[in-house]
Amino acid sequence: MNNILITGAAGFIGYNLCKSFVNKEDTTILGVDSLNDAYDNNLKKIRLKDLEKHKNFTFQNMNLSDEIALKSISHLKFDTIFHLAARAGVRQSFRDPKKYISDNTTSTANISNFVKSNDINKLIIASTSSIYGDSGVTPMKEGTDEKYPPPSVYATSKLSGELMAKTILDGTDTKIQIPRFFTVYGPYGRPDMSILRFIHWIYSSTEILLYGDGNQKRSFTYIDDVIQGLHKLNETNEEGVFNIGSDNTESLNNVISYIENILNIKAKIDYQPRAFKDVDVVIPDLSKMINLNWKPKVNIETGIKNTIEWYLEYKEQLKEIKFKFDYEK
Ligand SMILES: NC(=O)c1ccc[n+]([C@@H]2O[C@H](COP(=O)([O-])OP(=O)(O)OC[C@H]3O[C@@H](n4cnc5c(N)ncnc54)[C@H](O)[C@@H]3O)[C@@H](O)[C@H]2O)c1
Repeated sequence: MNNILITGAAGFIGYNLCKSFVNKEDTTILGVDSLNDAYDNNLKKIRLKDLEKHKNFTFQNMNLSDEIALKSISHLKFDTIFHLAARAGVRQSFRDPKKYISDNTTSTANISNFVKSNDINKLIIASTSSIYGDSGVTPMKEGTDEKYPPPSVYATSKLSGELMAKTILDGTDTKIQIPRFFTVYGPYGRPDMSILRFIHWIYSSTEILLYGDGNQKRSFTYIDDVIQGLHKLNETNEEGVFNIGSDNTESLNNVISYIENILNIKAKIDYQPRAFKDVDVVIPDLSKMINLNWKPKVNIETGIKNTIEWYLEYKEQLKEIKFKFDYEK
């Protein structure tokens, strides 16, 4: 039996990763999540409801910043831990640094201690492209292009998490792999991220809140490619940091036109000043993942089309989800 622990299981990437394991008969999955309010957590409940249909999936509500809570599962044996739980979002991180330290840095230190005392073979920790500087053109390479100090509270809290794990597990046999993701999108995505927000606003004839002129580009990476990348890492024992992203960048304006064309609805756009510390495109150097025989496969048009199909199938449930934060107009 392959026993895995997935933290952040009710989150966007955690949910999709759990989903990729639930049909494997030789695998049991424990998913944990604090169901925090970083965005409308009704979406997390929708994701969990879908996972809980599967016999080999169990869920436990747990806040990983509380070390005592983790003790309640210390009798369980895990082969691999995928640590995806975190508080994401560059803009929001400046509003409340303490929550980012607790959810990202302290929680990762706690998970690392848990791994150490339970002799777990492998720890895979999700990290972020936000750690890199903002060159605009040059692909960012793991280990050389990180920006010091990191460009946001979010990036600092994630980089501290990476370092905590390496320090705490130094000298143990645990293999640590740190995938850094680049703007992930797709079905069951986050309502605080551009593609899903744009789909929802265009479909519901609501003005799109667009920060900046829309020419800023992103390395949009489709969720299935990210999940394939995580499986590739799980299959190897090579340690280190690995960029998992797309090297085909796309502007927000182009994304909006793809959505308009598929839905056949013209977007109404409310242009707002560029968000504080919004970075220009960050392009991944993919050579490390290419060496593991992984490359992103899904192009942006197909990815957006799949996301729209999912949105339309679930639109009744999604009607109640909040796509704007209270501080946004
Ligand atoms: N989505 C992206 O584009 C992207 C890009 C780069 C990196 N990442 C990283 O990937 C991981 C998953 O991101 P996501 O997009 O699925 O975000 P998400 O917010 O949808 O999922 C994260 C989940 O972690 C849970 N969580 C947060 N703090 C917790 C705690 N202290 N204890 C237990 N659970 C906690 C949240 O409730 C949430 O459900 C994160 O580590 C994030 O930093 C995501």
